[in-house]
Amino acid sequence: MTMARLERDFHFTRKHFDYFRRLSQDYSGIVVADNKYEMFYSRLTKRLRQLSLNSFDDYVSYLESHREEEFTEFINALTTNLTSFFRESHHFQFLQNQVIPQLLQRNQRRISIWSAGCSVGEETYSIAITLAEAAQQHGFSWEVLATDIDTAVLDQARQGVYLLERVKNLPIAQKKRWFLKGKGKNEGYAKISRELRKNIRFEQLNLIQGFRFDKPFDVIFCRNVVIYFDRDTKVELVRRFASSLSSDGYLILGHSESLHGISDQFRSIGNTIYERI
Ligand SMILES: C[S@@+](CC[C@H](N)C(=O)[O-])C[C@H]1O[C@@H](n2cnc3c(N)ncnc32)[C@H](O)[C@@H]1O
Repeated sequence: MTMARLERDFHFTRKHFDYFRRLSQDYSGIVVADNKYEMFYSRLTKRLRQLSLNSFDDYVSYLESHREEEFTEFINALTTNLTSFFRESHHFQFLQNQVIPQLLQRNQRRISIWSAGCSVGEETYSIAITLAEAAQQHGFSWEVLATDIDTAVLDQARQGVYLLERVKNLPIAQKKRWFLKGKGKNEGYAKISRELRKNIRFEQLNLIQGFRFDKPFDVIFCRNVVIYFDRDTKVELVRRFASSLSSDGYLILGHSESLHGISDQFRSIGNTIYERI
């Protein structure tokens, strides 16, 4: 037994870990490897403290008796929400330099994008800024749907308030145009302008459950989400993405994700960008 284990505040066994990871995987599709044992301990310990519970056995009983309310908190505690503004910037350049001109050339006057697994919204607002800046120049309308399984990150995304530190690398003109700098008690924060927020819809959506939309999207961003899913879950999800895209729409994945061996409905055009065939 390691020192870290001896010093634990709560007794956390392999049986607890297996129980929690099974619950989480069945619901979210995220496959939890053995090396996530410590991460589960530290994230769920916070929840035990918030609830003033004395043991993981008590937490299991609590989870079972308060299934409706606690399950959301349980999932929120276990998701990994790492993100940033204009992360993997080539994807936004692709949107600006290829997708938008291509659609405008075809006389399409409304562009619709889905940010699937949007976390706290930095990806979504990066898409929105790219669209809004092009729309100012070329005069078209746009909308973004932003979804996540985690209700806590969605609340943050909806508010659109970020520490100045998070936006420090954005060009000054962009910050001035799309953010309001907080004053007084909001000092140190920047809020996304209403002009951007009004074209974005935030909704909770679990990607491993069914989804269907009235109108197809031109682009789906689903970056750094499917990396944790098993193969069958990916195959099914990508099949659904294909039917939610316009006939030659694009699916954009994260830097370490690929459709190789997963789908023949897309062709890779490089940089983890896929075009629907
Ligand atoms: C690492 S973040 C990626 C955020 C953003 N796409 C980016 O690349 O910057 C992964 C997000 O996927 C969400 N997620 C995980 N499983 C999901 C599922 N089954 N359905 C919807 N969202 C999920 C998590 O809650 C988390 O916010």
